[in-house]
Amino acid sequence: MPPVDPAPPPEGGGRPRPAAIGIDFGTSKCCVAAVRDGRVDVLENELGQKTTPFCVAFNSQQRLVGSDALDQAVVNCANTVHAVKSFLGRTYEEVKDMSSLCGIEKNYYDNECQPRNLWTSSRGPRNPLGNAQRLAVKYAAQVAGLEVLELINETTAAGVAFVDNRTVKTPAVIAVVDFGAGKLDVSIMKVRDGSVQVMAAAGNTNIGGCNLDDELVDHCVGVIQGRHEYIVKEKKQRERLRIACVKAKK
Ligand SMILES: Nc1ncnc2c1ncn2[C@@H]1O[C@H](COP(=O)(O)OP(=O)(O)OP(=O)(O)O)[C@@H](O)[C@H]1O
Ligand SMILES: [Mg+2]
Repeated sequence: MPPVDPAPPPEGGGRPRPAAIGIDFGTSKCCVAAVRDGRVDVLENELGQKTTPFCVAFNSQQRLVGSDALDQAVVNCANTVHAVKSFLGRTYEEVKDMSSLCGIEKNYYDNECQPRNLWTSSRGPRNPLGNAQRLAVKYAAQVAGLEVLELINETTAAGVAFVDNRTVKTPAVIAVVDFGAGKLDVSIMKVRDGSVQVMAAAGNTNIGGCNLDDELVDHCVGVIQGRHEYIVKEKKQRERLRIACVKAKK
């Protein structure tokens, strides 16, 4: 990753503060940006890509992340996890039927995919980036050696960027709609004098691109069964179908 400008020194002198980066932690992909030379720049990963697919895979030798994990998803589907964000702060029982889990075993999920202290520290209703999810993100950041300055909901971040770009005359009431891979989020915000106040926000984790993919795969499985009397049951076949459906959708 290219170097990132450090933040200016605090008023009154002193050592410059370390650089801050912004991470869009999406369900299908992750994007990192920083302020460089006074403008926001999206940073490239080591493959020169501006977004990194949110896919993690394990084999007997190593852990693969991003495109490397995605590229081997068909041949190693039992050990490949897509859409990691959907599993954040959720028990195995809650996610075991999700196709993106690709049949990862409970034992492995409990021991490797969730922070151990999460369930004792956070109970109660789950909502998108609710308490358990926020704790899981902070825990992951800690493991990665990052200090979390602030966790901001995506639609709120979009609202702030919108106001910063001064593309809107204020005061105004705006609606930000984010149809992502894992959810649909809508926020109504009041913008005034460069500030944003969220008046209402709602989301649905059952409406997203991944859900469309699942529906498409189920549809194709039905068509294959009806026309060719062949039952698609192997994970590998389903994964191959999923990749084809995502391509067809676009
Ligand atoms: N041209 C396209 N037509 C239809 N769907 C598309 C197209 N391009 C991308 N998608 C879908 O959009 C979704 C990715 O959107 P986005 O990058 O906003 O999601 P995300 O930020 O990863 O997820 P989230 O915000 O829900 O956590 C994927 O499901 C992808 O298949
Ligand atoms: Mg998103």
